[in-house]
Amino acid sequence: MSPWRPQLSSERSGAAGVPTISTSAVARAEVLAPLVHRHHWSTSVLLHAPTSLVLADLTALTREVASEVHAGLHPVTIDPDRRWYRLLRSDSYVDVWLISWATEQTAELHDHAGSLGALTVVSGSLVEQRWAGDGLRPRQLRAGRSVGFPLGHVHDVGNPAPTPAVSVHAYSPPLSAMSYYAVEPDRRLRRTRSVLVESGSSKGVG
Ligand SMILES: [Fe+2]
Repeated sequence: MSPWRPQLSSERSGAAGVPTISTSAVARAEVLAPLVHRHHWSTSVLLHAPTSLVLADLTALTREVASEVHAGLHPVTIDPDRRWYRLLRSDSYVDVWLISWATEQTAELHDHAGSLGALTVVSGSLVEQRWAGDGLRPRQLRAGRSVGFPLGHVHDVGNPAPTPAVSVHAYSPPLSAMSYYAVEPDRRLRRTRSVLVESGSSKGVG
């Protein structure tokens, strides 16, 4: 059975100037964690994203859409001044973004709040810096590579290569909030800000 649901034919491009406000989503998680321990609740409730999709579904979806990009169904623009995005598909369950990365363009160290994520590199290569509990761990993602992002995944993604890269990203449920982080000199992860992400906003994709 295909993980894909009937789609809303929405297609937007460019970095929308979306107003953001502070969110308490992550703060709620921080409050809930000790409560779970205290009351012996089942942590499975909190460790699963509120979506019927699993990471394998999302990675498969990004691979499917990546093949569409290879087939020329989705034109790509390389913008040397900023990352370029296009929302290819969107419904209540999942958003799919096409992103291009010129040389040295990066996201920022971030999470995806309550959403699962996945990406497939269409062309070029990306470097992901993953938070591993005591520091960042790099991994190179070459063309054709797909990876999934479970809940709690904190990472930065960028293209240090001299040639542009293109990738397809999916989030389920669609991103509604996210937090940004800094790594302190003592190798602790510090949240610097949290934002709400409006439906279809490119803020946070990557
Ligand atoms: Fe991300």
